[in-house]
Amino acid sequence: MNQSLAERSHKHIWQPFTQMALVDEPIPMVSGNGATLTDIDGNVWIDGISSWWTCSHGHAHPHIAKRVSEQIHTLEHVIFAGFTHKPAIELAERLLPVLPGEMKRMFFSDNGSTAVEVGMKMCFQYWFNIDQKRTTLLAFHDSYHGDTFGAMSAADRSAFSEPFHPFLFDVTFLPYPICEKTLNEGLKIINEIKSPIAGIIYEPLIQGAGGMKMCKPQQLDTILQHVKQLGGICIADEVMVGFGRTETLFASDQLEVKPDIICLSKGLTGGTMALGATCCAQFIYDAFLSQDKLKTFFHGHSFTGNPVACSAACASLDLLLDPETLQKRTHIMNMHNAFQSKLKSYPIAKNIRQSGTIIAFEVGDGASYFATLRDQIWEHFKSRHIILRPLGNTIYILPPFCITDQQLETIYSAILEFLESL
Ligand SMILES: Cc1ncc(COP(=O)(O)O)c(C=O)c1O
Repeated sequence: MNQSLAERSHKHIWQPFTQMALVDEPIPMVSGNGATLTDIDGNVWIDGISSWWTCSHGHAHPHIAKRVSEQIHTLEHVIFAGFTHKPAIELAERLLPVLPGEMKRMFFSDNGSTAVEVGMKMCFQYWFNIDQKRTTLLAFHDSYHGDTFGAMSAADRSAFSEPFHPFLFDVTFLPYPICEKTLNEGLKIINEIKSPIAGIIYEPLIQGAGGMKMCKPQQLDTILQHVKQLGGICIADEVMVGFGRTETLFASDQLEVKPDIICLSKGLTGGTMALGATCCAQFIYDAFLSQDKLKTFFHGHSFTGNPVACSAACASLDLLLDPETLQKRTHIMNMHNAFQSKLKSYPIAKNIRQSGTIIAFEVGDGASYFATLRDQIWEHFKSRHIILRPLGNTIYILPPFCITDQQLETIYSAILEFLESL
């Protein structure tokens, strides 16, 4: 075959979030190591966004690879209804106690979107099973919960979802409480709702794809407290912020109001394998226990609880809970903090913000995913072999915890260079 990998890919593969008519051939990657990836021409790239926020411990981590390899040679898959296995049990036994709130049951699925679907279905069926008519779901503007229909319904209506608007279910949207004004607007909207509230779905502390918008714990708590008082179920979508991205293990750890349901993926396996998990409090689970078979949670996927993915998650948990990882996360936070002071001397860098190991800012006023500057920013980092895929004119760094000081400094310098070039 004479064609290059890039050509073959471009000829046969339809890539995500990509206008195929407008892009060049993709860059074939051949290997990964720590915070770097090596392309087919031998160029070493720094992964500044953990490959879509997944690989928290870096690429091809030997500890995760070893457990995955052992598992795949032992039991690669088994139907998960009526059967179970050690990796899933170990994961549930170890993860549930470290989750925020009183999480008692873990339900597996395949990715972040399905973890969210499961969370919302648990919430709606909870009310159905206890014979209460509550169907109003609250969600936030600028939120993103995935690309399946339920997840799209709960996310902000945008140009991305426009072709599907006629098919999405209704949700009551509140502004994300990033200031007093939006907080009060949100409270007002809740007070005006006439129908009983089923629940609220939220990205705790940071709205990722919506532009790395950050809110203070107290402000989100005020909204959640209000929803709780009205009997609503709190569904935390920690798909992006979970597993040590913020200052705490889970973003909800910084909130007074703990979730009743929590949706997890991405960092769950340290980015090694696709896996989703939705965990819930005892009272949610209890509502599904009945002699009536129709109260069963009729949901499942072919690969539910895949043993290899669960093994990857157990290995990733070993690394996450290792005190050395906490030190690394703290070190990144301190480095980001110091970088903030440098960034502040560039007036074009607006709304500089940080939460844990994530730092973000806008280039110029306002934030727009379709900002024309976006391609210029991306080309700048690409030409330096840095993966820092901006969200419109929002630049952010979300590195693997194993990133070295030198790699982080290279990213910082490339950012400052870009700002100087404007
Ligand atoms: C907060 C949040 N929820 C859900 C998802 C969907 O996850 P997935 O892409 O694995 O379906 C994402 C993905 O970016 C996310 O950031």
